[in-house]
Amino acid sequence: MPNVVVIGAQWGDEGKGKVVDLLTEHAQVVVRFQGGNNAGHTLVVGGQKTVLHLIPSGILHAGKTCVIGNGVVIDPGVLLKEIDALRARGFLADAGQLLISAGAHVIFPWHKQLDLLREKARGGAAIGTTGRGIGPAYEHKVARVGIRVRDLLDAEKLRRRVREALAGVRDELTRLAKAAKVEDPDLDEGTIVGEYAAFGARLKEFVGDASVFLHEQVRKGSRVLFEGAQGTLLDVDHGTYPYVTSSNCVAGNAAVGSGLGPTAIDRVMGISKAYTTRVGGGPFPTELDNELGERLRKIGDEFGATTGRPRRCGWLDTVVLRYAARVNGLWGIALTKLDVLSGLEALRICTAYELDGQNITEFPLDLDDLSRVKPVYEELPGWGTKLSGARTLDDLPEAALRYVRRVEEISGVPVVCVSVGADRGETILMSNPFRG
Ligand code: GDP
Ligand code: IMO
Ligand code: MG
Repeated sequence: MPNVVVIGAQWGDEGKGKVVDLLTEHAQVVVRFQGGNNAGHTLVVGGQKTVLHLIPSGILHAGKTCVIGNGVVIDPGVLLKEIDALRARGFLADAGQLLISAGAHVIFPWHKQLDLLREKARGGAAIGTTGRGIGPAYEHKVARVGIRVRDLLDAEKLRRRVREALAGVRDELTRLAKAAKVEDPDLDEGTIVGEYAAFGARLKEFVGDASVFLHEQVRKGSRVLFEGAQGTLLDVDHGTYPYVTSSNCVAGNAAVGSGLGPTAIDRVMGISKAYTTRVGGGPFPTELDNELGERLRKIGDEFGATTGRPRRCGWLDTVVLRYAARVNGLWGIALTKLDVLSGLEALRICTAYELDGQNITEFPLDLDDLSRVKPVYEELPGWGTKLSGARTLDDLPEAALRYVRRVEEISGVPVVCVSVGADRGETILMSNPFRG
């Protein structure tokens, strides 16, 4: 029984949520294993839109278990709002549909304040974070001073941990607030403990040992779908450091962040837009800082699902795709938003970079090199027809099919799925990762 990891092959927002929602039909369990509510995963079913930040994108399917693994950082206030919003719409009727790992780390108000104030202090070199406290929460996890979901369930333990944590961050917050000429953040121990103990009390029914549950599911032969957040180029080890997020977004972390061994993973599906986008700072070789980029943003509705920020847009970059194939071990690619390219006379695919007069085909990890590269393009003919009605490859105009074939040739990975619209049904699935 194959277990499948879905990850972003670019800089996030590739359409992971849509693909996970689509594939959930073939799985019994869906697991988030890293990131937090910096993620915004959009599902559209029958014209109705749902944006999820923490709950796995399988939640619209009854009878499946969605797991938030130990590798996720959880803002409990955001999670509870998401639970309430889903329940108000008739989803998540059964508490057994959601399991939250007791070992996941918790985002507190000081994490968000540190995130925002540090970004201010970075000035022109700001990373462009989502301001959700993700970086500081992971930092405290690694520094071994973090507070976990299990700590929310015991008020006395929580009070001790909050007191220790506050003592550790107050000086920095005061210093940063002074430098930013804003008021010193008002962090009252009693208020925070009260609020977070109440969060714990409400979340308790969902909290458990995710590793034990997943292990048992795998043993029984259930199919597990792992849902990555962010994307390969935002990975803290393999991305465009320091313009990255603070977790490992690559497929290898699916095991670590859920409490299974790596042998539980069979196939890795990389999600890539038919072009490229990025939100926040950092190098982006194929960026179109012109009318064409503006057009992609408008037609593709490229505004962040979490912060609403306009996404930077550019041509498809197969240097990035080949890199993602290498560091994730990609089995196949889902190419999304192909419909957005309709109506462009000619399309470009970046096949290599030019660096100091030489063509390079491997993605350079040195930020200075990456900032200097010039994309080498191949031009392909465009197509005029709309694609949203296509349900098989035969329904695609010849030029669109040629584009898909060229992507797989250059990237060296088969395109197993083509998405031609935001709706669950607007998809061509050529190879189901759970089967063929
Ligand atoms: P994720 O973070 O990877 O789940 O992606 P987001 O949800 O942040 O961004 C993808 C956006 O593209 C969402 O608004 C989706 O509804 C939309 N989308 C996904 N696939 C397609 C597609 O094939 N065509 C179009 N036009 N929109 C799509
Ligand atoms: P999904 O899962 C796109 C980006 C931010 C910023 C950098 C660091 O929806 O694809 P952080 O708040 O994580 O410290 O910000 O990472 N970023 C994303 N970009 N999609 C995401 O998630 C992102 N999550 C973080 O814009 O550049
Ligand atoms: Mg997103």
